[in-house]
Amino acid sequence: MSTPSIAPLDRSETTFRFLAEPTSVNFGGKVHGGALMKWIDETAYACAAVLVGALLRTVSVGNIRFRRPILVGNLVELRARVVATGRTSMHIHVSVHAGDPKGGELLQTTDCLVVMVAVNENGHPVPVPAFVPETEEQKRRSVSSNTRWT
Ligand SMILES: CC(C)(COP(=O)(O)OP(=O)(O)OC[C@H]1O[C@@H](n2cnc3c(N)ncnc32)[C@H](O)[C@@H]1OP(=O)(O)O)[C@@H](O)C(=O)NCCC(=O)NCCS
Repeated sequence: MSTPSIAPLDRSETTFRFLAEPTSVNFGGKVHGGALMKWIDETAYACAAVLVGALLRTVSVGNIRFRRPILVGNLVELRARVVATGRTSMHIHVSVHAGDPKGGELLQTTDCLVVMVAVNENGHPVPVPAFVPETEEQKRRSVSSNTRWT
């Protein structure tokens, strides 16, 4: 029996998908903003780490807006995509969707731009490989690294 083929992995994109657990919610049953920001940071880090062979530091998280709450038990999907690189920085757009895991569409709750800087063991910035958009989708989402969403 032949092995089914798998679509090639887009190394500039990372998706985390999980259920919101009671440990992440406040007394009203909604996910803490701080918990969501941690997930955003972790997803952006994983996305950048695939492309950068160095440690990374979060230098900024721009334009974060909580559009609608995430409820305990919701399916949460964080999608991080590289949109630009500078000399030492990697700019990652993170989009968060959530909804009922039993069906229905996942609605966007948040999106933001995370900037990560590659550093050496002394904490000094080091160059990152340039992100060159190749596919139409990558070209559409790429922005100048001079864009500041803050
Ligand atoms: C990240 C850090 C090493 C950068 O050091 P620095 O001396 O400020 O470095 P630089 O001024 O050379 O800037 C480095 C890059 O960050 C970018 N940068 C700096 N401030 C920025 C901001 N507010 N928004 C977006 N990018 C920014 C610069 O444009 C530069 O990018 P480039 O090389 O691609 O052009 C340092 O600021 C640091 O350690 N900060 C604390 C990080 C931290 O603790 N994060 C939370 C936990 S991971």
